[in-house]
Amino acid sequence: MCGIVGYIGSKSVVGILTEGLRKLEYRGYDSSGIAINADNEIKIYKAEGKLQNLVDLLQGHVKETQSAKAGIGHIRWATHGAPTEVNAHPHTCSCGKLVIVHNGIIENFKELKEDLIKQGCVFRSQTDTETVAHLIAQEYNKTKDLTQAVRLATKKIQGAYALGVMHQDFPNVLVATKRNAPLLIGVGEGEFFIASDVPAIIEHTKKALYLNDDEIITLTNEKMTLIDGDNKELNPKIEILPWEPVALSKMGFKHFMLKEIHEQPDVIRNILSGKLYNTDEPISLKEVQLTKETLKNLNRIQIIACGTSMHAAMVGKYLIEDFCGIAVDVEASSEYIYRKTVTDKNTLVIGVSQSGETADTITAIKQSKAKGSHVLIITNRPDSTMAREADSLVPINAGIEVSVAATKSYIAQLISFYLLALYMAEVKGSLDNATLTEIKKELVVLPQKVEMILAHKEQIQKCAKIFSTTKDFIYIARGINFATALEGALKLKEISYINATGYPAGELKHGPIAMLDETMPVLSILMHGKVYEKILSNAEEAKARNAKMIALTNSDDKKLEELFDFIIKVPEVNEILSPVIAMIPLQLLAYYIAEFLGKDVDQPRNLAKSVTVE
Ligand code: AGP
Repeated sequence: MCGIVGYIGSKSVVGILTEGLRKLEYRGYDSSGIAINADNEIKIYKAEGKLQNLVDLLQGHVKETQSAKAGIGHIRWATHGAPTEVNAHPHTCSCGKLVIVHNGIIENFKELKEDLIKQGCVFRSQTDTETVAHLIAQEYNKTKDLTQAVRLATKKIQGAYALGVMHQDFPNVLVATKRNAPLLIGVGEGEFFIASDVPAIIEHTKKALYLNDDEIITLTNEKMTLIDGDNKELNPKIEILPWEPVALSKMGFKHFMLKEIHEQPDVIRNILSGKLYNTDEPISLKEVQLTKETLKNLNRIQIIACGTSMHAAMVGKYLIEDFCGIAVDVEASSEYIYRKTVTDKNTLVIGVSQSGETADTITAIKQSKAKGSHVLIITNRPDSTMAREADSLVPINAGIEVSVAATKSYIAQLISFYLLALYMAEVKGSLDNATLTEIKKELVVLPQKVEMILAHKEQIQKCAKIFSTTKDFIYIARGINFATALEGALKLKEISYINATGYPAGELKHGPIAMLDETMPVLSILMHGKVYEKILSNAEEAKARNAKMIALTNSDDKKLEELFDFIIKVPEVNEILSPVIAMIPLQLLAYYIAEFLGKDVDQPRNLAKSVTVE
């Protein structure tokens, strides 16, 4: 939800902090700030709104900041307290000598704050974070040891945090710790970095270590010391990050979202090349530990996810039930964690998450593991908290997705579900070889079909221009493409702020049809298959109420031109694979409408790329 960075070394720290925050803007962008230790004095600079406001502010303070070699920074997605300068991080204790940045939520901050106020602490903000600054300061006043103060103070905290901490008494020390929120430590030559995510450090170093919950690291420009919550010294496990900085440039596209939409053919190729070597050989999912015995004893499969990942899960349900004959439930993680779930050792629980850090899904996964379920994670981040919890892992290998709106990661999740469902069918023996081979062959040619759609995007740009001023939008579909309708509507909602809704086409007449008139566009996902005729008749019902009609279809039927005001044509594809093909135009439609409206496509208002709070 927020992003934190920190640096300690021999270089001027301000630019390193602000550029690190720029790489984390997709995590939240309603205010930002940095704290540096310049000439043995903690200096804090904060700004409301976009990061550029902080950068502009710092331009006026070059002289008094350029000598600083240590600092922490924060970019915020407000949870407690409005996105004002007062609530922006960093936050300090009463005396202002101890300063922290925080990503996460302190769940018991109210009772902690009341207690601290009774002890005379002076609070300046409405944030939960400020409570932590006072707690650490209290412990520091007893121990005069910053590391121990952080260790003891965080034992009183409930919730999620990734913290960067500095104190004026120690100009060359940076302390960091985390629980239920991501934090990695970049290891350079005579310098160290802390960051909520890889993009903030990858241009400086590929050597990093991921802190585990309750570990505390103390950094100077000479060394790092790692301890656990019981003050036991640990050996840091340094990894080489599997990412390249190039993933973080727009490569000539106007927005990251458009770039990531165009990466999709290669994303599909990459996934298949690593798991489907050729169409008459079994699928290879090296990190999936599902034996024939496990699959035979499965009583059900529960898929949990949020947002776009939940839509991918809905397609996954369809595929696994169709290929394997095992009952599958799909549920939003935020609902799953608050009901009495019936999962046990014979349940396969699949968590789907691009970031691998979505708090609701992490909680759901941990609950399921506690009940003995086998947990399989499908994620774009094999380095994430969720991946580390997994009994089985399916990395989607889509590459870093910077735009807040998920596009290539959605398609990569779909492809991963095709491969997982086929893998399970092969292990179970529930699909004949001819069907297996036919589906694999269709998968292999998907990238070319996606490229054909991208090559004819002008039809979608035209549609976007016609419908960009609409206030409402309805998407209808049936069967495996109901999830496509939901995902298409979510894309439009989240980047253009238009009130778009996806409905099962058969549900239109049970209420939503009352909304239809000439101001309401209805987009029908009309792909050849067993529900084609049904959707066509639902579209006719909508047309009869004067709705503006759009068809997304692979049909060449000329009669469609009488029924639809606009037709988006896509290549022919087996119905079971149509969610991949049908999604591409809907991503582009949302993009071009938002772009035409002049919206902030990559950083839509109120959103963040990774929702690391419940
Ligand atoms: C999708 O465009 C959104 N960014 C959002 O719905 C996202 O899919 C959701 O927050 C889940 O994130 P995750 O896949 O990282 O768990």
